[in-house]
Amino acid sequence: MNPLLSKLQPYPFERLKQLFAPITPNPALRPISLGIGEPKHATPQFIKDALCANLQGLMGYPATAGEPALKASIVGWLERRYNFTNFGLKLDPAKQILPVNGSREALFSFTQVVVDPTKPNPIVVCPNPFYQIYEGAALLAGATPYYVNSDPARNFAVDWDAVPADVWLRTQMIFVCSPGNPTGAVMPLAEWEKMFALSDKYGFVIASDECYSEIYFRDEPPLSGLEAAARLGRHDFKNLVAFTSLSKRSNVPGMRSGFVAGDAAWIKAFLLYRTYHGSAMSGTVQAASLEAWDDEDHVVANRAEYRAKFAAVTPVLEAVMDVKLPDAAFYLWAGVPAHVCGGSDTAFAAELLAKYNVTVLPGSYLAREDAHGVNPGKGRVRMALVAEQAECLEAAHRIADFIKTYS
Ligand SMILES: Cc1ncc(COP(=O)(O)O)c(C=O)c1O
Repeated sequence: MNPLLSKLQPYPFERLKQLFAPITPNPALRPISLGIGEPKHATPQFIKDALCANLQGLMGYPATAGEPALKASIVGWLERRYNFTNFGLKLDPAKQILPVNGSREALFSFTQVVVDPTKPNPIVVCPNPFYQIYEGAALLAGATPYYVNSDPARNFAVDWDAVPADVWLRTQMIFVCSPGNPTGAVMPLAEWEKMFALSDKYGFVIASDECYSEIYFRDEPPLSGLEAAARLGRHDFKNLVAFTSLSKRSNVPGMRSGFVAGDAAWIKAFLLYRTYHGSAMSGTVQAASLEAWDDEDHVVANRAEYRAKFAAVTPVLEAVMDVKLPDAAFYLWAGVPAHVCGGSDTAFAAELLAKYNVTVLPGSYLAREDAHGVNPGKGRVRMALVAEQAECLEAAHRIADFIKTYS
């Protein structure tokens, strides 16, 4: 058996199951889960109809490179969303785009393409806290993850300056997650400029996870790595590949549809890998995805639903704990008050379930100790506001009541 498998960490929800195993949740209250970050808003009818109208796609093996029509639609979306024409930039759908079966599998498999385990001690740099696939992808590729903490004092910006030069020298790839899970933080242009300079200096690849890009709470939509590159005149997207998904944008997590875009040389290598890996997107899903990328009305409506929900829920929690409206994504990343459960995120999650039947995810499960022994998720919990507003609001009131029992 591949010995690297033994390096994989239990998934946060496995750990949550163990934490909750001895607990009997308060039977007087119906359960509410803010645990799993899975979109729960309704899938638009036109996407379901598009799947049904394109069942002939099941009759043939799809090409791994994807249908030209889908890739043209993706390029159209990218150009509209990131104003590429303002920068005189035209993407080549044949060379710079690949459909993928959701961003998760692509983040994992792209890492296998990038990491060269024959070089001494390869490193993959990850934000901390982070989406656990990054870590597993790095470990199975034969690299060691290096965790870089987000800084609560700077809107949870990842402290890239804290990475020492000897780590950068061995870094082959870095994951950027903007908007971030779980912090919701968006990386600004100045940080991108710094990241590109580091990539040029040390030669590493930037994997930019942008799966939450369409759910945001500020006026300005989140900057993408691709848009940052365009603005900074890096029109070949050198060493940059972005991962975008329909799961959250269009409420189709079960459809498994996304795309990667960026550096043509890396896209070419990724296509080669995927051909052997056997991860072509079904023609039926490609056809429905095309319609989803072409439509923006449902995205605007979805965003409005999240905005209304966050506007209602955030103040209830802000009154009792350290939390604020994030830039984007669908999580609240809240600090456990020091006088509640001793400020422990795990004890908070366990007692909240026992007394109020609400599930939240302990922040320490989403992060690792950094090089200095600090787990930046400690003392925080992640709340996924994916259920409908009334349910999320009820959960927030129960959490506020729970915290008030300690005062
Ligand atoms: C940060 C992040 N990246 C990627 C994904 C994967 O999403 P999908 O595979 O549905 O595109 C998730 C899913 O929750 C996520 O939180």
